Amino acid sequence: MNIVLMGLPGAGKGTQADKIIEKYDIPHISTGDMFRAAMKNGTELGLEAKSYIDKGALVPDEVTIGIVRERLAEPDCNQGFLLDGFPRTIEQAEALDQILADLGRKVEDVINIKVDQDELVKRLTGRRICKVCGSSYHLVFNPPKVEGVCDKDGGELYQRADDNLETVSNRLEVNIKQSQPLLDFYNKKQILTDIDGQKDINDVFADVDALLKSSRN
Ligand code: AP5
Repeated sequence: MNIVLMGLPGAGKGTQADKIIEKYDIPHISTGDMFRAAMKNGTELGLEAKSYIDKGALVPDEVTIGIVRERLAEPDCNQGFLLDGFPRTIEQAEALDQILADLGRKVEDVINIKVDQDELVKRLTGRRICKVCGSSYHLVFNPPKVEGVCDKDGGELYQRADDNLETVSNRLEVNIKQSQPLLDFYNKKQILTDIDGQKDINDVFADVDALLKSSRN
């Protein structure tokens, strides 16, 4: 199962990724999570990524492609993977095809979660994340049982630094510009499916799951 999950910031990629990996037991490779972990650990990669992420810009292709290449070569990816937030440019998509071709593999499904822009702004500015496990909540749409506390491990919830209104607007602008050529790229390969991400979280997953099942029959 070699899956790419696409969608503008806040479309619900991370939310759906949690459900997909739980059901299909494949590793979740999120470039955003990898950058945030590097930022937390204060590594050289983290310092470089932070200068772009804080502005809502994309991290340069050569940096991003390098970390994905290393991650896909790890043994837990042998049975498949779920890429979330990568590729985001045509250069990254072409590099991904080459990395996988070298491993005798290819992308099988590209899932594009579609959500209106106004809704994306509401989702991003209301999102809260667990400091311990990284689970994602929303103040209104997906609140934790106890305010400010993760349901899974009791961890404290925080707001991502790039989820303020100004950075969100720039992230959306940058990603809207980058995403259409990428959608065209995968559409031509006939492996792209749009999913309506405006529905309730569990209904979106039902659609994603049905797609993954049908493309395996
Ligand atoms: P990344 O971490 O990938 O962020 P993103 O694409 O901006 O996406 P998000 O994580 O913000 O949103 P999501 O779609 O996962 O939504 P979520 O499930 O949390 O990237 C961050 C930065 O890293 C980038 O800006 C860039 O700088 C850099 N970067 C990463 N990859 C890169 C690459 N390949 N190249 C270059 N740079 C890269 O949901 C959002 C909220 O909505 C949550 O609160 C959730 O509870 C709620 N929600 C989810 N689904 C629903 C629903 N159906 N109904 C109601 N609420 C919902």
